[in-house]
Amino acid sequence: MQKLFVQGGTRLKGRVRIGGAKNSAVALLPATILANSEVVIEGLPNISDVETLSALLEEIGGTVKRSDDSVHIDPAQMTAMPLPNGKVKKLRASYYFMGAMLGRFKRAVIGLPGGCHLGPRPIDQHIKGFEALGAEVTNEQGAIYLRAEKLTGARIYLDVVSVGATINIMLAAVKAKGRTVIENAAREPEIIDVATLLTSMGAKIKGAGTDVIRIEGVDELTGCMHTIIPDRIEAGTYTIMAAAQGEDVLIDNVIPQHLEPLLAKLREMGVEIEEGEEQLRIRPAKKLTAVDIKTLVHPGFPTDLQQPFTSLLTKAEGTAVVTDTIYTARFKHIDELRRMNAQVKVEGASAIVSGPVQLQGAKVRATDLRAGAALIIAGLMAEGITEITGLEHVDRGYEQLTEKLTNLGAKIWREEMTDQEVEQLQS
Ligand code: EPU
Repeated sequence: MQKLFVQGGTRLKGRVRIGGAKNSAVALLPATILANSEVVIEGLPNISDVETLSALLEEIGGTVKRSDDSVHIDPAQMTAMPLPNGKVKKLRASYYFMGAMLGRFKRAVIGLPGGCHLGPRPIDQHIKGFEALGAEVTNEQGAIYLRAEKLTGARIYLDVVSVGATINIMLAAVKAKGRTVIENAAREPEIIDVATLLTSMGAKIKGAGTDVIRIEGVDELTGCMHTIIPDRIEAGTYTIMAAAQGEDVLIDNVIPQHLEPLLAKLREMGVEIEEGEEQLRIRPAKKLTAVDIKTLVHPGFPTDLQQPFTSLLTKAEGTAVVTDTIYTARFKHIDELRRMNAQVKVEGASAIVSGPVQLQGAKVRATDLRAGAALIIAGLMAEGITEITGLEHVDRGYEQLTEKLTNLGAKIWREEMTDQEVEQLQS
């Protein structure tokens, strides 16, 4: 186990290249189960979630070969092997094995998913969708059992706008008999990316990226080649880092439209942003002014950038209210930021940040992926050294983070933890 050290105060300068989208990758990999021959995905990020899902594809009989920038998955020999425990518990997105295996085999046994602890994260809408398509779904000793004689297209209205449920229902419906309509669907770019892959495999999907998705079931899906979209949350994280501590930072391989809510808020704070076709250039504000944010479903401000953005607000002048309407308890980073001298209090689903303050380096713990990003941003701004544990969360979603930040001039390094430190952390 490793910990991360950040020596604060250096200015970031140079170019950083963004990798493939984590939240697409984690759905694209299970989606390959639905094909009958090799699928090649280019540009997958080098993160532990991709390794875990690749291992799960191998566990059910797939062949996964990784070359430089692409992954070749041969799903031909896959079976409906139950996956009740083990790696499925490591991440939330293992729930996509439910939709994909149900679509291909008409049955699946998948352990309840793990992932970041952001408060309650039910999967009732996924199950509602599977049942509407004709599956019987039971929860037996912590695993979800799905069985269907056949899947038949249906009209499904999501009571909650959910990324996971939208994708999972698409995965199950592409091979169902007849037409499925998903109403009140989520509209994230990752949903369009998954629909693009499925369409290249031969699926008939219309409306991905809007709140009504129509799917005409087909009998067979074939292999294909797909290039993943860039990670808007990784790009957003580096954009916030540049706003916090940058001199002149160029962010490469980004779709600026995916980041509009963040860019609008940063401009309101005074940050200078130039948008290119696939690039963003960030220059610092003369003075950072506090702004309120409220997370919403896409295309609103993404909850995944709420925690990193809160760190930036500690440097801004004034009081800011940060409200998370998607995960109302996604505030575990706040206690850690307080250890670093941040003036923040949590009231219900909001954090109230007063600034500016000079953060101080401290020993802190990343409790989840984006909390980790928030603490690294805080560490970059702080006086002295910040020591961050809980790196396994960060490595699930940020590829080559230490290398990318070192290239930008940050003083950041990893060290192995002693056995005693690991014990203390786990107690
Ligand atoms: N919800 C329900 N019932 C459901 C599904 C969701 O009530 O059946 C609720 C959730 O509790 C939440 C809201 O609906 O309050 C939205 O949840 P959603 O299903 O959209 O989230 P998710 O699919 O589980 C994905 C990302 C998250 C990201 C959210 C919201 C993946 C693997 N995860 O989660 O990403 O925060 O969408 O945009 O795609 C992250 O990357 O750090 C991360 C947590």
